[in-house]
Amino acid sequence: MARHLVSTHNLSTPQVIGLLDRAEEFLDERHRDILAGKIIVNMFFENSTRTRSSFEIAAKRLGAEVVNLDIGSSSTKKGETLVDTALNLDAMGPSAIIVRHKHSGVPELLSHHVRCSIINGGDGAHAHPTQALLDLLTLRRRFGGDLAGKTVAIVGDIKNSRVANSNMELLPRMGVNIVLVAPPHFLPSATAFRTTHHLCDIIDEVDAIMSLRTQTERHETQTYASLADYGRQYCITEEVLGNRDIAVLHPGPVHRNIDIDDAVLADPRSLVLEQVKNGVAVRMAVLEHLIVPC
Ligand code: NCD
Repeated sequence: MARHLVSTHNLSTPQVIGLLDRAEEFLDERHRDILAGKIIVNMFFENSTRTRSSFEIAAKRLGAEVVNLDIGSSSTKKGETLVDTALNLDAMGPSAIIVRHKHSGVPELLSHHVRCSIINGGDGAHAHPTQALLDLLTLRRRFGGDLAGKTVAIVGDIKNSRVANSNMELLPRMGVNIVLVAPPHFLPSATAFRTTHHLCDIIDEVDAIMSLRTQTERHETQTYASLADYGRQYCITEEVLGNRDIAVLHPGPVHRNIDIDDAVLADPRSLVLEQVKNGVAVRMAVLEHLIVPC
């Protein structure tokens, strides 16, 4: 039975720690032949810069070949069902298919039909497990290993964010306290976490801020005045941070000067590019974990 990564729920806490430890070894960016002769398929039905190229580089660094499905010219455009598309790709013998789709639940659905591993590269507002793993690795490296008792503020369009969802599942397992900061229309309707509408309420308590992009593509109607108005209240600026030693994360793509301003992005407290580097190593660890028999 192939193993899948549909959400962080698929991983036990010891498995998460094992993956992060292995990812630390892969940070040397050396080429390894662990997946030589294997094929990985990228099946991205939504835009992606980081996640898709990160999986591709991770697979290639492990010696695998990568096939990027060109969705624009694929047969789903001719009326083939998603399951049939996946079954046909699966029949060609890849070791894994990375799936990104605007609808929640697509990776889970496909995982019930194919022989290869399905890895969720982001589905709707549901989950983005490798992003949460790379965020966790970034935080773990920044705080010297132990995250117990650290406080992370997740700021922005939390309600529509699969990145927030996966982090809200994963970070508390490591003893991290989470506080959600957003205008009312961006907060989930029910949450066990502390919430506030104002950055100034929590700025003296937090060790890290995870800023999120406003997920405009998931809004049926615009419930806010403008992104610029949002930015005036929630942009992470040097003024907001002051001289506090707060780590600043963002999954990308960043709405520059709305989510985080130019000065903070250039400040050593910003770990945004560190996250991207860590993402390749985390995805190498995930590919190895799912594909190489124990
Ligand atoms: C995120 C995504 O697509 O879920 N980006 C990413 O994978 N790095 C977040 C976003 O699009 O805002």
